[in-house]
Amino acid sequence: MKKKIIGVILATAMFATLLTGCGGGSSETTANTDSAATEDAAPAEDTATEDAAPAEEAADAADAAADAADAAGGDLADKKVGVCIYQFSDNFMTLFRTELENYLIEQGFAKENITIADGQNDQATQSGQIDNFIADQVDVLIINPVNSSSAETITDKVVEAGIPLVYINREPDASEEQRWADNGWNVTYVGCDARQSGTMQGEMIVDLGLEAVDFNGDGKVQYIMVEGDPENVDAQYRTEFSVKALTDAGWEVECLSDQVGNWQQDQAQSIVANALGQYGNDIEVVFCNNDAMALGALQAIEAAGRTVGTDIYLVGVDALSEALEDVIAGTMTGTVFNDHFSQSHSAADAAIRFLKGEANEYYIGCDYVKATQANAQEILDMVK
Ligand code: GAL
Repeated sequence: MKKKIIGVILATAMFATLLTGCGGGSSETTANTDSAATEDAAPAEDTATEDAAPAEEAADAADAAADAADAAGGDLADKKVGVCIYQFSDNFMTLFRTELENYLIEQGFAKENITIADGQNDQATQSGQIDNFIADQVDVLIINPVNSSSAETITDKVVEAGIPLVYINREPDASEEQRWADNGWNVTYVGCDARQSGTMQGEMIVDLGLEAVDFNGDGKVQYIMVEGDPENVDAQYRTEFSVKALTDAGWEVECLSDQVGNWQQDQAQSIVANALGQYGNDIEVVFCNNDAMALGALQAIEAAGRTVGTDIYLVGVDALSEALEDVIAGTMTGTVFNDHFSQSHSAADAAIRFLKGEANEYYIGCDYVKATQANAQEILDMVK
């Protein structure tokens, strides 16, 4: 398993909404019982020794052991975990779910008791999968919703079924999280604050200096934006806060194009190819809400005969291995490490606490890390 300790390079995080087109908490939940480990709760066969009790006593001991194990959350190896991922083909969520499964197994869950479902980017499909997990009486659910706006409906049915719930990656809105707190439900969210990643993208551009970025010397920075799924706060915040970092630095900016690439490399490639065809050398910076799209952007940039670092800049988010290799090679200006180790481990740890009858905060955060030529190799060594 990979190490997830990183040299901490933090930036400030800071709300607002944004649509495509240029221009544009927490407290404690309930706890049921103590969390005495199940090792102390001896299974029936250990207590019913030969020289000891008659059958009745042995049966009583077995019942007591079973009760103790239940009270303690039972043995993790017997616990069933249902995991819903919005879409398996998403590069970042593939890293996330792989690490999540490995870590759950390391913590003592049995591989055959972990079921991971592909929502295929369709909320109806995912809702059916959640219904099946409820019918199967899984002990805990970890959900990366297709639509964060469906969280209320999802929460209601999962809570109704008495199953603890850990949301990951796509954060439900503040009023939904408030409901968990107000009702003392065993529901939490694990993820990073996308405002921080957007800010870091912008800061990596600002750090280059206006002179270097303003290739056409008109005193302002012309950029294009390629957005992830606009229903997702990650896309909204990265779009807004990346540019805000430039204006906060006193830079004048001009948005030439802002389009939705849905986190997908191929969509970004054609968006950027078209934008380069339309705006040509006027484009000085390409902001992509994630690395998959930045990789597509890079294909389009190279096909147009442009050179990152020489006549255009390009930033992404996630720190996919391929993107880190590009940062090292100079063919990508920078990316931002979206720590799937920390997020998947925190999600599993939260699930385990719920299973033990312990409380979780309603929001469990994690920090992003800038990845530039200075530290990209270090991050690559960790993620590879
Ligand atoms: C983001 C990530 C994207 C995509 C998205 C899915 O955090 O940067 O690449 O995976 O989550 O919701």
